[in-house]
Amino acid sequence: MVVAAQYYKERENRDILHSFAKSIQERDIVTYEHSRRVATYAQRTARYLGWSRRSAHDLSLAALVHDLGKTWIANDILNKSEALSDDERRAMQRHPVIGARILIGCDIHAFFVDTVLYHHEAWDGHGYPTGLSGEEIPLSARILAVADVYDVLTSQRPYKDPLSVDAARERLLLGSATSFDPTIVRAFLHMLDTNPNFTLPQRICALPIMVRHPSPFLPNNVIPLRNRLENEEDISS
Ligand SMILES: [Fe+2]
Repeated sequence: MVVAAQYYKERENRDILHSFAKSIQERDIVTYEHSRRVATYAQRTARYLGWSRRSAHDLSLAALVHDLGKTWIANDILNKSEALSDDERRAMQRHPVIGARILIGCDIHAFFVDTVLYHHEAWDGHGYPTGLSGEEIPLSARILAVADVYDVLTSQRPYKDPLSVDAARERLLLGSATSFDPTIVRAFLHMLDTNPNFTLPQRICALPIMVRHPSPFLPNNVIPLRNRLENEEDISS
């Protein structure tokens, strides 16, 4: 009886997390695609570190919703192509707490809540929202942090071009033992060095938000959906 109840609870948790992932996809396709790649990197890393298939899958689910809190951040901050002001940065840095609160409100298991809440903590304690350090940070969040940053580094963003794999590799090494758990960085770089197809392709790129009227020669899928929808609204109003 208890086992059946636990099974249904876990299944319900996974269904809710998939619904949230869908809502991220609707709100911000670039964040959703980023989260999918982060989920794959995190899952591979967990398996490499000896996690069970099931636990690694749970980590990939947490990664899918790690930026859920950004769905509550205003568009003009979320899409800004210039540097954020101090107030805007503070607002942006609330997203782990917002995401965790949403998950707690849906009675999601603490594993997912903690992974989302602590994914911007740093190994030496300079991260946010709580300034945890070292092994005080849940292992799932330490893995997610490396996967998250590697994808950000190798992705096109409104405010930056993607780094090469070698340059991103150097940045992870530079952050080892300051921003990231050195054991996770070692594992991640080993996978990167031994698998030529490790880095996932970007299906949708984040172009600067000022690209409102894209060249007809660009394929549709490189224009963020958000921009296209905004353009459609402009036409109808
Ligand atoms: Fe984040």
